[in-house]
Amino acid sequence: MLILGIETSCDETAAAVVEEGKKILSNCVHSQIDIHRRYGGVVPEVAARSHIEVIGPILSAALEDAGISWRDIDLVAVTKGPGLIGSLLVGLSIGKAIAYACRVPLVGVNHLTAHWSSIFLVNDEIDFPFVSLVVSGGHTSLFLCRGIDEVKLLGHTLDDAAGEALDKAAKLLGLGYPGGEVIDRLAKQGNSQAYSFPRAIRGEVNFSFSGLKTALVNLVKKKGEIEESELPDLVASYLEAVVDVLCEKTIRAAKEAGIDKIVLSGGVAANGRLRERLKAEAEGVGIKVFIPPVSLCTDNAAMVAAAGYRLFLTGNTDGLDLNASSRPAI
Ligand code: KG4
Ligand code: ZN
Repeated sequence: MLILGIETSCDETAAAVVEEGKKILSNCVHSQIDIHRRYGGVVPEVAARSHIEVIGPILSAALEDAGISWRDIDLVAVTKGPGLIGSLLVGLSIGKAIAYACRVPLVGVNHLTAHWSSIFLVNDEIDFPFVSLVVSGGHTSLFLCRGIDEVKLLGHTLDDAAGEALDKAAKLLGLGYPGGEVIDRLAKQGNSQAYSFPRAIRGEVNFSFSGLKTALVNLVKKKGEIEESELPDLVASYLEAVVDVLCEKTIRAAKEAGIDKIVLSGGVAANGRLRERLKAEAEGVGIKVFIPPVSLCTDNAAMVAAAGYRLFLTGNTDGLDLNASSRPAI
């Protein structure tokens, strides 16, 4: 069975062909980072217009890379939300058109379900149930996953997402956009204990990162100017505060749910320090950690196909009346 995955929820236009929900035949991603960089963040209307221009060529590239034609597709899996509504509608509309024209089923996929489903593309061993932390520029959510369509939200951020906290810090410190990757690199040269930053709402599984960002703003104001030589220690300490709460709450959630497997996914799951610490700390208390390779952490369409395949197998398909939603239920 060949699944065509389509992803346009934010600023990546992506299409992929995945065989049996597991084998990636192609995985094409066009990032809009260069378009949005000058604004310091994603501009929704600009994002939607870019998706319209790029989706056709990206779909053609995905088919060509996979060495297949439209007639070979058996299922169309497309992100239905959460995300930017104008961007989502581009992918959803073309996904419906392809499903209709090729006379194949359509399945709408929750973007966060797609993120944790990326683990199925690389790991045969993982099975339900597990706790999953999806941590990206727009989301920081903890789920208890008992099946592809049996998902319970355990906790989420009450304000900024973890990736947003990193992106805002990078912007404030003049490190460019998006900031997560730069912070990852710079933090490796710094001392994570050099500065003390707050760890918000200890003792529960919801997250809050806006206080952390404010602490950095206040510190920068107080210091007046930050020397370049101070940056590694500063970002290492800031990143450590983010990683600390992500690890503590994820392990707490797994323990409380009595689950011994954790799946880490989303753009921030590319972070070296987070990958290393979550693995070490969870495995120290007997919880196994599964993390997709860095290339599958940021937005892509192979993860959408992986989730769509499993949804299809459990009897979940959608009609052409499927709508996009910026905040769908699972
Ligand atoms: O999943 P994603 O591509 O898009 C959303 O759904 O938001 O995640 C993008 C986020 C951005 O905030 C970016 O700064 C962050 O992932 N990110 C990282 C790293 N690479 C990307 N954060 C920390 N370390 C990284 N290596
Ligand atoms: Zn994402």
